[in-house]
Amino acid sequence: MAYSELLKRRGFGETSRRDRWWVQPLLIAAALGTFVVYATWAGIQGAHYIYTGGGAEYLSPFYSPLLYGQEGEPRWIAATHPSWWPSWLPFSSAFLILAGPVGIRVTCYYYRGNYYKSFWADPPACAVGEPRKSYLGENSLPLILQNLHRYFFYIAIFLVVVLSYDALRSFWFHGADEKLHFGVGVGSLVLLVNAVGIGGYTFGCHCSRHLFGGRKDCLSKAAVSKACYDCVSTLNRGHMRWAWFSMVWVGFADVYIRLCSMGIWTDWRIL
Ligand code: FES
Repeated sequence: MAYSELLKRRGFGETSRRDRWWVQPLLIAAALGTFVVYATWAGIQGAHYIYTGGGAEYLSPFYSPLLYGQEGEPRWIAATHPSWWPSWLPFSSAFLILAGPVGIRVTCYYYRGNYYKSFWADPPACAVGEPRKSYLGENSLPLILQNLHRYFFYIAIFLVVVLSYDALRSFWFHGADEKLHFGVGVGSLVLLVNAVGIGGYTFGCHCSRHLFGGRKDCLSKAAVSKACYDCVSTLNRGHMRWAWFSMVWVGFADVYIRLCSMGIWTDWRIL
């Protein structure tokens, strides 16, 4: 391609590319859009987020940690909703916690690269003309708020701990003697895979590399940090795959628990 051709300003969607460059942004828009619509719907429901059949206790990751809930549920605060919640506004415990997972994904470097293309066409794809004439970068509002990512990362670590606890808890079932007994249900495995997926995504974050050694001047002299850094770097190289896997699986975990709670699916006990 001639140099003058490279410098030419393209109109929106104009490109010399001959491949189907629009397929990937279109598929990503469909996948992200489907997840956002489902997660919003599930979060608003405020019901069927916990399955307790057969002595199990599976909590949907969309509602964990369960800050408020019904009596008998693993709620953190002994009330159904906060006292300050407006009486005219329907309440769902998911409203109080979704900011954490939504915050880290919206500000994630990988997702940014996707939704800037798929939803804002900015640009629609590499070497394809974009709708705007100026480039503002992420130096002014609202995109400067993407810098909050490093803080959402710490919230995400907290959620990994909580979801890991939920996964471990799901391997303990209430017996007829009212004691807890070890067991394995399909739901236990679903929640375990969910915790692994969210953990793999979170600890593969660029902020994680900084936390586990990237901030040191001479990493090779700190053996433990170096080992952790290498480990999270491995996760980081697969960050895209972890991002997709964890997003799809967290949605599936909610679907699984919801359908079991509604009596549509049966949670098979393996052990
Ligand atoms: S870069 Fe994706 S979670 Fe931090």
